Amino acid sequence: MIAEIIEKYCIENGSNFEHATLLDEIERYTNVKVQMPQMISGKYQGQMLSFLSKLLRPKRILEIGTFTGYSGICLASGLSEDGKMITIDINEEHYDDVNTFFEKSGLSDKIDYQIGNALEIIPTLAGTFDIIFLDADKKNYVNYLPLLISKMHKGSLLITDNVLWKGKVAQEQKDSDTLAIDQFNKQLNKHPQLDVIIVPIRDGVSLCYKK
Ligand SMILES: C[S@@+](CC[C@H](N)C(=O)[O-])C[C@H]1O[C@@H](n2cnc3c(N)ncnc32)[C@H](O)[C@@H]1O
Repeated sequence: MIAEIIEKYCIENGSNFEHATLLDEIERYTNVKVQMPQMISGKYQGQMLSFLSKLLRPKRILEIGTFTGYSGICLASGLSEDGKMITIDINEEHYDDVNTFFEKSGLSDKIDYQIGNALEIIPTLAGTFDIIFLDADKKNYVNYLPLLISKMHKGSLLITDNVLWKGKVAQEQKDSDTLAIDQFNKQLNKHPQLDVIIVPIRDGVSLCYKK
């Protein structure tokens, strides 16, 4: 949604990742070996995830939608000394390679990578999380919402990807995927316990905290 030249400028003038070489390797791997490589968070969004995590120094992070591990490494880089991140993906295809990327990042001791349906796993997780990143099956965003709210404490941050769905949420005619995301955005907005802002970065990211 942001012009390429502007995004490039923002990336170049944002802080450099300590994991830049590894993240470049993950991007290359994703482009060559994975279907739908465009699902990766990429540099700009990765910078934002890493920035927010470092700012909040979370003890516990929950990521839904590991994919090739890019966003997970960005988020986990901000964990507190004794912090842990649970990351879940339904697809086991990249399991070994993603574990190798986590090992290379030096963060694997802090990362619990689980394969399974997040809708079934989330209710089994104990306690609450300081940061939750929702980046999985868009049609189920509305079904994730009550599960995730129950895993948030006062001040928890919920970050959700693809909330503008290539701008289609703002158009009059909406297909079923767009309607599902629009409904999720509206539920966040009217929820009495949540404060939310939509940031038009990449495909739209919403930042939401529990009051
Ligand atoms: C957009 S990709 C995630 C991208 C990743 N967060 C990143 O930035 O690199 C979405 C991922 O969600 C996973 N997914 C879809 N439905 C899921 C479910 N019900 N439970 C867990 N993971 C799911 C897919 O397998 C896919 O890897």
